[in-house]
Amino acid sequence: MRILVIGSGGREHALLHAMHGHELTVAPGNAGMARLATVRPVDVASPEAIVELARDVAAELVVIGPEVPLVAGAADALAEAGIPVFGPTKAAAQLEGSKAFAKDVMAAAGVRTAAATRVESADDLAAALDEYGPRYVVKDDGLAGGKGVVVTEDRAEARAHAEAVLNAGNPVLFESFLEGPEVSLFCLVDGETVVPLKPAQDHKRAYDNDEGPNTGGMGAYAPLPWLPEDGVQTIVDEIAHPVAAEMVRRGTPYQGLLYIGAAWGPEGPAVVEFNARFGDPETQAVLSLLETPLADVLLAVAEGRLGEVGPLEWKDGYAALVVLAAEGYPQAAKTGGVITGDALDDASKVLHAGTALEGGLEGGNYLASGGRVLGAVGHGATLEEAVADAYEVIGGIELPGSFYRKDIARPAIEGAISL
Ligand code: GLY
Repeated sequence: MRILVIGSGGREHALLHAMHGHELTVAPGNAGMARLATVRPVDVASPEAIVELARDVAAELVVIGPEVPLVAGAADALAEAGIPVFGPTKAAAQLEGSKAFAKDVMAAAGVRTAAATRVESADDLAAALDEYGPRYVVKDDGLAGGKGVVVTEDRAEARAHAEAVLNAGNPVLFESFLEGPEVSLFCLVDGETVVPLKPAQDHKRAYDNDEGPNTGGMGAYAPLPWLPEDGVQTIVDEIAHPVAAEMVRRGTPYQGLLYIGAAWGPEGPAVVEFNARFGDPETQAVLSLLETPLADVLLAVAEGRLGEVGPLEWKDGYAALVVLAAEGYPQAAKTGGVITGDALDDASKVLHAGTALEGGLEGGNYLASGGRVLGAVGHGATLEEAVADAYEVIGGIELPGSFYRKDIARPAIEGAISL
């Protein structure tokens, strides 16, 4: 099958690796993907450019990785052009594009989530700060690439973030803090049909012990040894199904990947956020465990046939993903450093995100071109073994000034997470 993948990060490298054997094109891609796919340029924010490229490569399936093209309407444009696309319509992608919309859907569907207030004027900030303190969860209501959320006990910091969001022209959402460990559950959704993948957890803060600023994600592991056996089914029953049914009821059925970010509190799972796409970096861990050919499953969703797909097959054991970040990430990542290491061209071990190539694929040098440079994948019969494997891979990679978290999955390994 000729497949076009839109995106350029570790998530898209993992998608390509899970679909190898097909005729793959990726746009805009990155240097590390060139062994798996033809890399083409594209403006991801332009649905017209994506359709033009899909036509040019005669794509039989387009898989959209990031949220920006989805919210811009790329899936609608591809569907209008008669090209099968994995990813929700612009209307359905509002589950990620507008947190206020997502709250409205959850209220209608009876899904547990944090209480929230939307603030559009600086005049209303003081009242919201009074209501939601002392643990403030302040969110940009629009897309912010995973960096729009500030969780803090510092009122001045909460106010400053809210003002920055308002000054950028977006409304601000104040939310009550949800207690409990977080689960990232990716669900394939086709109308009212829901098929969950393995549950995962990511690490969003830059430094060990969940210190430092929020990032796009510094590591992940899957599945979750601390989640009860029926935990995934509970999230599907209490969140995924009601939301999918509500989207159908509204006349905007969801088709693609619904990422449920949930906190498992005393009453069960409650939604922290929805994303309209695979998560990064959880995807890199989750897909490395999938045995069922991914392309067939994504095509089935694109063609409205998810109900015909049998149960997904998975490898036994665990997967872990450790992100290597460039010096200064996330505030001011230093790019241009030379990356060396034996596993750089092995997509079963290293998934590229911010890399460029100086010289050709044979004999050239990889350079850091973004904040999150790459991710090292590890596997094992136990979570501890999987994490050790990932650290062995990343230990063989050199990039001056770079850093990575040393505590990926540690609380889970130490049995420090319980429901
Ligand atoms: N891992 C968080 C995200 O993909 O948004």
